[in-house]
Amino acid sequence: MKDLPHARESAASTPPAIALRDVSKVFELETGETLTAVSDLSLTIEPGEFVCVLGPSGHGKSTLLNLVAGFLEPDAGSVEAHGDPVKGPGPDRGVIFQRDTLFLWKRVRDNIEYGMKVRGVPKAERTAKADELMEAVGLTKFASSWPRQLSGGMRRRAAIAAVFANEPPVLLMDEPFVGLDYARRAVLHDVVTSLWSRENNTIFFVTHDIDEALALATRVLVVANGSVVYDVSVDLPRPRGTDTLNGPEALEIRKSILRHLDEAMAVEEERFTPAG
Ligand SMILES: Nc1ncnc2c1ncn2[C@@H]1O[C@H](COP(=O)(O)OP(=O)(O)OP(=O)(O)O)[C@@H](O)[C@H]1O
Ligand SMILES: [Mg+2]
Repeated sequence: MKDLPHARESAASTPPAIALRDVSKVFELETGETLTAVSDLSLTIEPGEFVCVLGPSGHGKSTLLNLVAGFLEPDAGSVEAHGDPVKGPGPDRGVIFQRDTLFLWKRVRDNIEYGMKVRGVPKAERTAKADELMEAVGLTKFASSWPRQLSGGMRRRAAIAAVFANEPPVLLMDEPFVGLDYARRAVLHDVVTSLWSRENNTIFFVTHDIDEALALATRVLVVANGSVVYDVSVDLPRPRGTDTLNGPEALEIRKSILRHLDEAMAVEEERFTPAG
């Protein structure tokens, strides 16, 4: 029988948004020792999932995110996005870091339109999309402001709008709201969840804040010693107000996450290999 790759492809289900198979990443330390930052890790994330990653400091969360972003190459195993091998950073995977990534010499609107401009999106379409996003993040009146004229939280919102403007199917966020006050965080949580539910992206979100994870995630991973040590779905109703987040279901999930975090801290596995 004739091979029909296309027919087979269309019959198959959508590939995972992110798929890691037996991935390891080893770093050489200044002492000459090596450190296994990500250890034989396998993970599949389906399109539309909002995955929050918790875990002790220095245990591989950012390394994992950087492997998916394509900023790092694995030493073993494979990393795929939408069924294709990750060969480097790409517009299909938007990244939002802790630090601001706005162009300081561009006004808010131009920052948001920049990615679309590079992709050749016509002016009228760019303007409409930027207007819509500025409204979503509450920056309409600051369209012509320079980044230095915004507060930290406003810059973060502008940066989020700029990344969402590129409509990346996958969004990678590494502690994006660290250092912001409670109210600002709550606003940004609403912004991100409403953009996520509208655009239906897949989000991979690293945080140290268990409350933040419970407010946002459809699934929480605990990463420790370079491995996923706990993987739990968070099936709480939205919007997740105080009642939901303090309800029995949320408290149960929180307890099990905390237990795994405690265990992870207790079992500091030997990740270091002596030199030579
Ligand atoms: N470029 C690098 N070169 C050498 N070692 C690195 C590099 N990047 C990360 N590491 C090491 O890999 C380990 C995991 O780091 P990673 O940044 O992934 O941790 P993390 O879980 O994100 O921690 P945190 O919560 O503190 O951000 C750490 O011990 C770190 O020192
Ligand atoms: Mg980190």
